[in-house]
Amino acid sequence: MKRVLVTGGAGFIGSNLVFHLLEHQPGIHVVNLDALTYAGSAMNLEGLPDSSRHTFVRGDIADRPLVKRLLREERIDTIVHLAAETHVDRSIVGPDAFIQTNLVGTFELLEAAREVWLLEGAVPPDETRFHHVSTDEVFGALEPEDPPFTEDHLYRPNSPYAASKAGSDHLVRAYAMTYGLRVTLSNCSNNYGARQFPEKLIPLLIMNAVEGKPLPLYGDGMQIRDWIYVDDHCEALAAILRYGRPGAAYNVGGGNQVTNLDLVHTLCTVLDGAIPQSPHRPHEHLVAFVPDRPGHDRRYAMDIKKIRSELRWEPRETLESGLRKTVAWYLANPDWVAAIREQPTYREWLDRNYAERRAMP
Ligand code: NAD
Ligand code: TYD
Repeated sequence: MKRVLVTGGAGFIGSNLVFHLLEHQPGIHVVNLDALTYAGSAMNLEGLPDSSRHTFVRGDIADRPLVKRLLREERIDTIVHLAAETHVDRSIVGPDAFIQTNLVGTFELLEAAREVWLLEGAVPPDETRFHHVSTDEVFGALEPEDPPFTEDHLYRPNSPYAASKAGSDHLVRAYAMTYGLRVTLSNCSNNYGARQFPEKLIPLLIMNAVEGKPLPLYGDGMQIRDWIYVDDHCEALAAILRYGRPGAAYNVGGGNQVTNLDLVHTLCTVLDGAIPQSPHRPHEHLVAFVPDRPGHDRRYAMDIKKIRSELRWEPRETLESGLRKTVAWYLANPDWVAAIREQPTYREWLDRNYAERRAMP
């Protein structure tokens, strides 16, 4: 891995991965292709460890001529594909963009890689790698007593987001089987950490708590997620890129399976400690139950035995230590927070998603 194309590298996980790669892998150059949708921002790339080894290109993964040109001109040997529409609630309101980017966009990217790497032979095939970053949501929901998802679990996606990611996973697998493209896949659980767009639960709760606004929990708040700190996910991705077997899929999880209600309790305790002068302490008083998300998956949990035994990776952070770092980042970056708060499209989203959800007694 010498010249890496990261797609979606101005988003949450992508930007953390770009920081990680530049810091830990001195020999590589990163070309970062990102369309800068509402979820991506140049602010996320401020302060990169060595920006001379980073090239940012604003563009769409579905623009095949552009991707082919980048693969050729930048002599790319590795693609790490993160670009996607990612928010379940938005996929319920408007699935079109999810099909376009997650499914059609992934297809275009695969075709570009097939043409340039396999048909033109621009890079020796055994030096190439297409890594696809996916989610545990493709597996659907678990019952309380079910064992965690393994890599062989049946695909049973329940939201348009999950279905579009499932479709992209299938395409990636098919390109390996049919054309011999050297691929790896990872399916990861819910991430949290620095630079996550505040439509997702944890940054939304942090930003609302700081302002003394309600902390909305959908339904009864008893849904279970397996939370992973984003740096742990980036380490897993780096391990897969280095040592992962071509053709293999790896489940990645944080080992922190809690209900949303327990999560909010832990987060409020962390916030109480981090902002002792806040008039909104104890922050837990701000919790508000609101009507549920349609088709809301009850439980996700990841079995990480495979990546642990094959690649010797495991998460470093506990939920509490990761939340402390995350809260510290949001408190230390008021300009980033203010810039997003001022986006009219962000305010429109909050109005649309929450104004209609009247708080339940
Ligand atoms: P994000 O929404 O924060 O960022 C997505 C990025 O992709 C943005 O920078 C956006 O501008 C870019 N993008 C969107 N459409 C594009 C297009 N057509 N062309 C080029 N760029 C485009 O997402 P994230 O949370 O960082 O997730 C990254 C990847 O990881 C996604 O594939 C997601 O499915 C996967 N994933 C996320 C989580 C999670 O908890 N966030 C968990 C598991 C897997
Ligand atoms: P989210 O961060 O949207 O991730 P995902 O749906 O991909 O798991 O949501 C995490 C959990 O939090 C999920 O069970 C939905 C719930 N949730 C709330 O209860 N309230 C909210 O305002 C949001 C955004 C999510």
